Amino acid sequence: MPDAVVRFGDDELNLPAHVGTQGDYAIDISALRGALGIVTLDRGFANTAEGRSSVSFIDGEEGVLLYRGYPIEQLAEQARFLEVAYLLQYGELPTKSELEQYEESITRHTLLREDMKHLFEAFPHSAHPMQILASATSALATYYPDALNPLDPEAVDISCRRLVAKAPTMVAWSYKYRTHQPYVYPANDLGYSENFLRMMFAVPAEDYVVDPVVATTLNLLLVLHADHGQNCSSSAVRLVGSGHANIFSSVAAGIHALSGPLHGGANQEVLEMLEWIVAEGLDLDTVVRKAKDRNDPFRLMGFGHRVYKNFDPRARILKKAAADVLHALGVDDPLLDLAMRLEEVALSDDYFVERKLYPNVDFYSGIIYRAMGFPIDMFTVLFAMGRLPGWISQFRELLADPETRIFRPRQLYIGSPVRDFVAMDER
Ligand code: CMC
Repeated sequence: MPDAVVRFGDDELNLPAHVGTQGDYAIDISALRGALGIVTLDRGFANTAEGRSSVSFIDGEEGVLLYRGYPIEQLAEQARFLEVAYLLQYGELPTKSELEQYEESITRHTLLREDMKHLFEAFPHSAHPMQILASATSALATYYPDALNPLDPEAVDISCRRLVAKAPTMVAWSYKYRTHQPYVYPANDLGYSENFLRMMFAVPAEDYVVDPVVATTLNLLLVLHADHGQNCSSSAVRLVGSGHANIFSSVAAGIHALSGPLHGGANQEVLEMLEWIVAEGLDLDTVVRKAKDRNDPFRLMGFGHRVYKNFDPRARILKKAAADVLHALGVDDPLLDLAMRLEEVALSDDYFVERKLYPNVDFYSGIIYRAMGFPIDMFTVLFAMGRLPGWISQFRELLADPETRIFRPRQLYIGSPVRDFVAMDER
């Protein structure tokens, strides 16, 4: 194994390298500050691995995504979302009986405490569902004080089951509250996606029959979003968890992180961008020119990624799914055609080619959510439901690792040097 050597002034330090199972190298700089008195500066942690993880793997150059070693394409085609949730948390695909038991335990925890209704009702009807979900997730900690110890594996396990089970109820109820409709309670005879769709879209006045195309598509979307390495929200969950905060607080932090337009909020932004292009009657060359202009804050939403320098494999799957699902649902959405043309224009432009900017997972997902009947401001909260197994798996992994330390980055201080306090009348 090669070592790295750091030379700083007259001092020299050998740093060990570690290798991952896919052949990646990481130089361990833990001894750096102690030995040489210096730290590393790495904006946006682009070159920093905080720790080891075995949950998911991304090869950004090749456009590969694995959950616990399984290619995303295979899981997208064959796995149920709860199967993936199990795989991510426990490391292996469940056997038939393990999956049945897991699904049964999730089904048994879907109800919210009845008094939680008041929490939803405290929000203005205009509240964004991501804010409601983050608050409701945080509030769950107050209902289950006996299962909050992040170092107790049994407490963490039951909390994870409660989170996975209750997330669809919280998301659907945020929608019901915002649309002034009665809450729909979970139905234990339905699968995860079907139950969620019913809680979202059913009204007491008529029967609601789940469209199998919509349920299968939702399953696909949830599977594709389930984990993605040390992304912004998973890192937020890990950071908060590293201080031994409980899992509900840690996941709530992840939901807030996901809401940003550079992260999960991009799926809402993509649809809004496409609608804006249509409303303004813009031609695509103008849009791409705007995105390239350094003096214009506009960016092509749903394009680019810190890790992928090739097609995001999830975007590849979703582009195909978008056409198939819209066809199966009999939806003719001109925005799909617009998105495909925009992709074509961008990918043939030197700016995007040189910077290796490709469509990411958020580029096509919104068009599918829209065809399924979801309002635009629910898109990011659907991403959150999908990412939940990743967040809790990352939390569990971190807390079970004896080498975990509280996350406490250093800084390069560039403020004022030491100076004396100035009395008020002398300022
Ligand atoms: N449109 C125009 N230019 C872009 C874009 C874009 N969407 N993305 C990156 N660039 C340019 C950027 O200006 C920079 O150019 P230069 O080298 O001339 O300064 C170069 O490409 C590298 O970009 P960066 O901002 O340094 O890259 P980053 O790794 O820090 O940011 C990103 C990654 C995803 C935040 C960024 O690509 C972006 O803002 N994309 C649009 C928002 C988006 O779609 N977010 C969803 C990400 S995927 C799902 C998720 O994580 O939730």
